Amino acid sequence: MPDPRLSEKISRLRAAIARASRLCVLTGAGASAESGVPVYRGNEGLYAAWSAADMATPEGFARDPEKVWAWYHDRRRQLAALKPNAGHLALAALQKDRLARLGPDSFRLVTQNVDGLHQAAGSTGVIEVHGSLWQIRCTGCAAVTDAPGPLDAVPHCPGCGAVCRPHIVWFGEMLPPEVWSAAVEAASACDVFISVGTSAVVQPVASLVHLAADAGALVAEINLEETPNSRWLDLSLLGKSGDILPALVDS
Ligand code: OAD
Repeated sequence: MPDPRLSEKISRLRAAIARASRLCVLTGAGASAESGVPVYRGNEGLYAAWSAADMATPEGFARDPEKVWAWYHDRRRQLAALKPNAGHLALAALQKDRLARLGPDSFRLVTQNVDGLHQAAGSTGVIEVHGSLWQIRCTGCAAVTDAPGPLDAVPHCPGCGAVCRPHIVWFGEMLPPEVWSAAVEAASACDVFISVGTSAVVQPVASLVHLAADAGALVAEINLEETPNSRWLDLSLLGKSGDILPALVDS
């Protein structure tokens, strides 16, 4: 259902962004949906069609690395062809403008997405809390290697020769501590926090909005539908991120 007060909420959020010294934006799969990237949950989501226990756990990888890599090779092929959407481009333009006028602490982008589309849109310093589809990690020496191009069926570490896995956080795993610290710092130190296109159910990332609110930030979300946070947030904007983010950024 269309949000009847959407344009008023966009004006309020735009004014809050203009006043903010520090802005933190958190994105989830919905921010990439209009580029053609499937979301995770819901009838059309990835988890409706494949087993997270097989494809997104260290145990699944240990059981059958070929099968897991075959799935990731497919996903890499599909996503390599996709382009950033208007929402990604709006966030990149907002960052560029704020950094030029207000300095490096004025904008932080935290993403749960592993698709690299924020960087493709021109965003820099993106805090990728769940890793990247375009990096691999050695199961022996833990070295992380950029791997944007074609890979062997099961890639091996260029340094020590051990099997590599996708550099993606799987179920039951901790987030890389330095990446998580950067996300916590960004959320705790901002005046405005905007959560975009995430179902806000996966921890610990779902706690970031609470950290921001507890620290006194104005907290807002942009989503096609209500989330567990919509009722208590300062502003819940219902609609597509590819429509709302450009409207927020256009002055
Ligand atoms: P989900 O699939 O859980 O949620 C996607 C959200 O995006 C839903 O709330 C949709 O309503 C919303 N949405 C869809 N299209 C949209 C659009 N065009 N504009 C705005 N909102 C839209 O995805 P995430 O919340 O990102 O973890 O999932 C979190 C984590 O769960 C993922 O990072 C992944 C998964 O397990 C890992 O891979 C480690």
